[in-house]
Amino acid sequence: MSYAQVYGQWQQDPDGFWLSAAGGIDWVKRPSKALDDSRAPLYEWFTDAQVNTCWNAVDRHVIAGRGKQPAIIHDSPVTGTKHVITYAELQDRVSRLAGALKAKGICKGDRVIIYMPMVPEALEAMLACARLGAIHSVVFGGFAAHELAVRIDDCAPKAIIAASCGIEPSRVVHYKPLLDSAIEQATHKPDFCVIFQREQEVAKLTEGRDHAWHEFQYGVEPVDCTPVEGNHPAYILYTSGTTGAPKGVVRPTAGHLVALNWTMRAIYNCGAGDVFWAASDVGWVVGHSYICYAPLIAGCTTVVYEGKPVGTPDAAAFWRVINEHKVRSFFTAPTALRAIKRDDPDGKLVPKLPTLQALYLAGERADPDTIHWAQNHLKVPVIDHWWQTETGYAIAANPLGIEHLPVKIGSPSVPMPGFDVQVLDEGGHPVSPGTLGAIAIKLPLPPGTLPTLWNAEDRFRKSYLNHFPGYYETGDAGYIDADGYLYIMARTDDVINVAGHRLSTGAMEEVLAAHKDVAECAVIGVADDLKGQSPLGFLCLNKGSNRPHDEVVKECVKLVRDQIGPVADFKRAVVVDRLPKTRSGKILRGTMVKIADGQPWKMPATIDDPAILDEITTALQSLGLAKG
Ligand code: COA
Ligand code: AMP
Repeated sequence: MSYAQVYGQWQQDPDGFWLSAAGGIDWVKRPSKALDDSRAPLYEWFTDAQVNTCWNAVDRHVIAGRGKQPAIIHDSPVTGTKHVITYAELQDRVSRLAGALKAKGICKGDRVIIYMPMVPEALEAMLACARLGAIHSVVFGGFAAHELAVRIDDCAPKAIIAASCGIEPSRVVHYKPLLDSAIEQATHKPDFCVIFQREQEVAKLTEGRDHAWHEFQYGVEPVDCTPVEGNHPAYILYTSGTTGAPKGVVRPTAGHLVALNWTMRAIYNCGAGDVFWAASDVGWVVGHSYICYAPLIAGCTTVVYEGKPVGTPDAAAFWRVINEHKVRSFFTAPTALRAIKRDDPDGKLVPKLPTLQALYLAGERADPDTIHWAQNHLKVPVIDHWWQTETGYAIAANPLGIEHLPVKIGSPSVPMPGFDVQVLDEGGHPVSPGTLGAIAIKLPLPPGTLPTLWNAEDRFRKSYLNHFPGYYETGDAGYIDADGYLYIMARTDDVINVAGHRLSTGAMEEVLAAHKDVAECAVIGVADDLKGQSPLGFLCLNKGSNRPHDEVVKECVKLVRDQIGPVADFKRAVVVDRLPKTRSGKILRGTMVKIADGQPWKMPATIDDPAILDEITTALQSLGLAKG
C-alpha cells in the first residue's frame, strides 16, 4: 500500500485504523472501541481496555522464544564499558526491581521520579514502574537541583530512583548532592530513594531514606505485571513552556503502546530482532519513546549510548557504534551531526555502514548543509521528521516502512495517519499552500498523544486548545506546499531550541530577574552554527547599581546554571540601558533576534522609541553579532 492509501484509510475510518493497529499489542482486555469523545474537546483512546506496558515491552518477547536475544546494549565510551542484557535477563531484573518497589509500598498510580544518566538501569526503573502501573517521571541529568525540586513538588513522588553520578567527558556530574539539595528545596518529600551506586563516584546515603540499588532488591519476590486501564498515565514528562513552570505532559498507556508499535514498522521499518539506536537521552521524549519503549515493544534490540557525537573519543564514535552493534535504523539530532561535520568536514572518518538502512533526524530544524553532508557520506536515506514531547512520536515524517517518498530538503515530509495538520491565520482560518501561518492539528489528536497536563487541565486548555477552537496549537509556525509537504520554520512562543534541547526563555528571564541588580531583562535565542540556537540575555540594571557590568553578567550566567542547569547553555548576556518595547509594553524580542542574526528587519510600527534599537545593535556588535 502507498502512503496516500494508508493515510486515506485512516481518514475514512480512524477508529477502524487504530483498532487494527491495536492488533499488534497484547491486551488483558481488548478495547471495544478506539476513541472516547465523551469529554470532547478532551479526547482519550482505548479507555475500556486493560493492558500492561512492561508485559508488551519485555515478557511477551520471552514467551515468544526471544529470551536470549539482546534487549539492551549499553555502550559507554565515557566509562570504557560495554554490556548486553537479553530479554530474559531484562525480565528478571525488572520484575525484581518492581518487586522491591512494591514491597516498599509503591502501587498503581503512585509517582516515581527517575534521575539517572544513560545506563540500562534507567530503562529498568522505567519498566519496573510500568510493571506496577506506577507513573514515572524521568528528569534529565543536565537540570539543576531547583528544576528537580519543581518537578518533585508538581508530581509528588512516593519514591525517587537516582544514580550516584553521571559522567560528562569533562567532569563527573554529582547526581546525589543535586538530589539531596532538590529534596531539601522541595515542599513534598518522597518516602524513600533508591540509589544506583556507580563505581566512578559512590554516594553517601541518607539513613532511613536512601537504599542502595542492589541491597534494596536483595531477597525480594519478583512481581508480575499489573493490568491498567487504557487511559491510565504511563508517565509524566516535563517540558518547557512559555513560563518558568514546566508543563507535565501526561502519556496515556494504551495509545502509547499502539502508536509506538505502529511507528516502528511504518516509519522506522524495524521489527523483532533488528537493532535500533536513538542517540538521545532518556530524559527527553526521544529517549522515552525510542531508546526505551518503542524498540522494546517491537522486540528490537535498543542501544543505550553513554557518550557524545565527538570527543568520545572522536567524530567516528557514532559510526563505530553502528557497525559494532549492527544498527539498522539510527536516530539523532541535527546538532550532533553538525558537531561531527565540524570535526570531519570531508567525511574521512565515515566507514562503510553495511547494516544501516536510514538516518532519522528530529528535535530541531535540519539545515540543508547537514542533510547533504549526511546523504553524501552515509549513503543512506536521511529522514527529517517533526515531533514534540506532547505527541510522543512523529507528526510528520517520510514513512520508510510504507513508502519512501521523494525527499524535499528542509521539509520533514508529510503528516502521519492520525494527524490532520493545517496552517492557520490569526483568525483560525486555513491558509493556502505556501502561506506561512500557525501550525495546528485538527482534534482529536491520535492515540498516545497528551490527553492533558498533569494536575493542570486549565493550563492544558489555555496552552493548546483555546486559541484555535477545534484544533491543537503546536506552537510551531510554518507552511504546507502544494504537494502537502510541511515546512517548520519557527516557534510562535518563547521556546528556543539549543542543541536539540527545548528551553524556555521565560524560565531564564525569571531567574535573571531575581538577581538583585537586575531591574528588567529579556532572553532571546540567536542563531548558532553548532547548536541551532543559543540563548542571549539583555540586562537592565537597577538605577542605583554601579556594579561593573562584567561582574553582574558573570553572576547572572552562574545563576542560570545553578537554577536551571548546564543544559540551558546560558553563557552570554549584555547590559543595556533600556529594552525595545511596543507602546503597550511588550518587549520586541523578535526584532532583537533578527538584528542579532543579521537578518533583514523592519522598524515595528508599534515601537515606543526607535532609538533604543541602535543601542541594542551596538551591544550585539560588541559580542560579534548583528553583522550584515
Ligand atoms: N548531565 C549533566 N550535564 C549535562 C548532560 C547530562 N546528561 N548533558 C549535557 N550536560 C551539560 C554539558 O556537560 C555542558 O556543560 P558545560 O557547560 O559545563 O560544558 C552543557 O550541559 C551543555 O551541553 P551540550 O548541549 O551537550 O553541549 P556540548 O557543548 O557539551 O556538546 C553537542 C555539543 C552538539 C556535542 C551536544 O549538544 C550533543 O550531543 N547534542 C545532541 C543532543 C541530542 O541528542 N538531543 C536529542 C534531543 S532529541
Ligand atoms: P521537544 O518537545 O523537545 O521534542 O521539541 C519540540 C519542538 O522541536 C517542536 O515544536 C519544533 O519546534 C522542534 N522540532 C522538532 N523536530 C523538528 C523538525 N524535524 N524540524 C523542525 N523543528 C523541529
